[in-house]
Amino acid sequence: METVLITGASRGLGYELLKVYSIHDYITFPIVRTEEAFERLKYEFQGKCYPILADLTLDSSINHIKSEVSKQTDELDILINNAGISGTEYLIETVRTKEVNSLFDIHCLGPIRAVQSCISLLKQSDNPRIVNVSSRLGSITKMASGEFSDRDFSYSYRMVKAAQNMFTVCLSHELQGNNISVNAIHPGVLLTRGGSSDSNMYPEEAASNIYEWIKTLNKSTTGQFVQPSIGKLPW
Ligand SMILES: NC(=O)c1ccc[n+]([C@@H]2O[C@H](COP(=O)([O-])OP(=O)(O)OC[C@H]3O[C@@H](n4cnc5c(N)ncnc54)[C@H](OP(=O)(O)O)[C@@H]3O)[C@@H](O)[C@H]2O)c1
Repeated sequence: METVLITGASRGLGYELLKVYSIHDYITFPIVRTEEAFERLKYEFQGKCYPILADLTLDSSINHIKSEVSKQTDELDILINNAGISGTEYLIETVRTKEVNSLFDIHCLGPIRAVQSCISLLKQSDNPRIVNVSSRLGSITKMASGEFSDRDFSYSYRMVKAAQNMFTVCLSHELQGNNISVNAIHPGVLLTRGGSSDSNMYPEEAASNIYEWIKTLNKSTTGQFVQPSIGKLPW
């Protein structure tokens, strides 16, 4: 039976991914950061779902996640780094360094912590895959071309998603020797709390596309930036 760990699974895209993987009979490890979400998921996805209460902005989450997953399995097939928050400030006069720092913590240090907690378990899988949920707004190529110049997106979000993309590239290179595939995705512009003014896709549809695409991944498909069901994106 295959195993998947999904961060930010309390709501939005992460919750829809949890639903899809549960329907397909995976053993799931949703990461949530409130007791309320922990109890709700335990009740709703009874059986092979093992919610883990952890705040990915804390280094203590590394050992906690590792020990909770290890209670149930010796190997992890898929890690989806999905947890994230949006920023607000899009003018240099009003950008707050505190906002940039807090987004960096969850979008960049969060995936580092999650990988550190899962790496030994991923190495035991026959087809280990890491997927970082990035964004079209993290594409320096797209941003530089002026593709989004008609909209006000925060400095913090665009900066940290670009940094997260660099993490994906570095990690994919390092883990190639371990046959672990590491990719970044833009999930679509979603109708979630973290969505933007041009949101047009239900997270259920995005989750289903992501599930199908992850099934196609293996050690030879690594280091890509993709919108599942659409195609490759430029870094
Ligand atoms: N929505 C879009 O259009 C869009 C487009 C491109 C990329 N994305 C990316 O897709 C991912 C999911 O977005 P979404 O729209 O589904 O967002 P969402 O509905 O706002 O959900 C965000 C999730 O992240 C969790 N989270 C936030 N900080 C956390 C922390 N410190 N530790 C653990 N979990 C934490 C939240 O938990 P709580 O419930 O506890 O707050 C929640 O489960 C994000 O990485 C986002 O940047 C979204």
